[in-house]
Amino acid sequence: MIGSSSIAVAALLALSPFAQAQAPTNQFPQTPLADKRYDSPAALPYKVDSDTGLLRGSQAGFNICNSTTENQSSLCQTSYFNSVEDFCIWGPIEKDSTVADTEGEMVAWCSKPGHGTRLIPAGALTGIQWIKTPDYVQAVGFLDQSQINIKAGDWGGEMDPHGADLRGNPMGGVIFSTAFGGSAKQVIEWHNFVGGNKFCFKACDPAGPNAAHFCEHIYDRIGCDYNIPNAAQDKVFESCLGDNQDYPGVYTSNGQVMTYTQPAESLGAISTMPYTPKVPASSSCSTFESAKVYTGLPTAAATTTSGGAAATGSVSGSAGATSKAGTAVGAKATGTAAGNGAGSVGISLVSVMGVVFAGLFLS
Ligand SMILES: *[C@@H]1O[C@H](CO)[C@@H](O)[C@H](O)[C@H]1NC(C)=O
Ligand SMILES: *[C@@H]1O[C@H](CO)[C@@H](O)[C@H](O)[C@H]1NC(C)=O
Repeated sequence: MIGSSSIAVAALLALSPFAQAQAPTNQFPQTPLADKRYDSPAALPYKVDSDTGLLRGSQAGFNICNSTTENQSSLCQTSYFNSVEDFCIWGPIEKDSTVADTEGEMVAWCSKPGHGTRLIPAGALTGIQWIKTPDYVQAVGFLDQSQINIKAGDWGGEMDPHGADLRGNPMGGVIFSTAFGGSAKQVIEWHNFVGGNKFCFKACDPAGPNAAHFCEHIYDRIGCDYNIPNAAQDKVFESCLGDNQDYPGVYTSNGQVMTYTQPAESLGAISTMPYTPKVPASSSCSTFESAKVYTGLPTAAATTTSGGAAATGSVSGSAGATSKAGTAVGAKATGTAAGNGAGSVGISLVSVMGVVFAGLFLS
């Protein structure tokens, strides 16, 4: 997120007597989160965000995670994005939290035991589409977000390793992936939108020359449909290959390549969009049954903020995948307008172009 945090910081500095008298007034870390490099998870310090005395306080969790830190109250902020069977998304520490209030403190919630993190409760995921393209891997998922502590009905927001103060959201959150060959590599550029019982997450190949473009972090108000255009469906679990998308915010109109400028939040709700994002083609999809792949997960009841039972069992799912003919998705999205979280409002963009519908773009 960019806009809201910088406004909040400015307001804090201007209005709070404490901010001037005794509290820290510096917001920037010595090294921005996105510039920190770790060869492997074993090379991580206990806390990646080690600067003290900064405006947003200290890192909520930690980065050395192992079997002793793996339970449903884990504060592990080292995340993995390996495959459709084995990935993590960010979620709040405490039940019934909104994304806007907790984006800086989110912890890893994973689909598979073994990373020292919390686990996404069994059955919480109701659909997943995993896609690997030449430059990135992405997941679009449907879920009962309350099971990863996001307040029901919250339309959410964006997490990425930047943020107004360059400490990232969550602060100190790092991601590794084996999806780009070899051992787990640190993912430098990524973005994650969650809200409205949906999420999307893209991890860009750290060796890719355009990682910062594909995983752009400035379009925090236009959600999954514009940042990760997709044709994922609830109740379908599948893993596919796909083409690269256009860079978020970049589109072609009358043969001209254009770049969208997201208006400042102070200008009010985003009521119109000048384009419909193009959903890239996907192919070689394999579908599977979730219960065969997501094994060893705790039940929802085990997820509490202060003392859920530790997850038992760490049987790794044998894929159980069945092959299906590739589904090339059409050139145009049946556009849906997005809030700043992941959810879509399900109204065709064509019909809303030029029409003000304030309130759909909840902030
Ligand atoms: C496991 O993680 C904890 C918490 O970060 C850490 O204190 C401990 O040293 C780790 N254990 C091993 C064997 O790495
Ligand atoms: C979870 O793990 C932490 C770190 O080992 C421990 O302090 C805490 O008591 C555990 N909580 C539960 C509910 O097992």
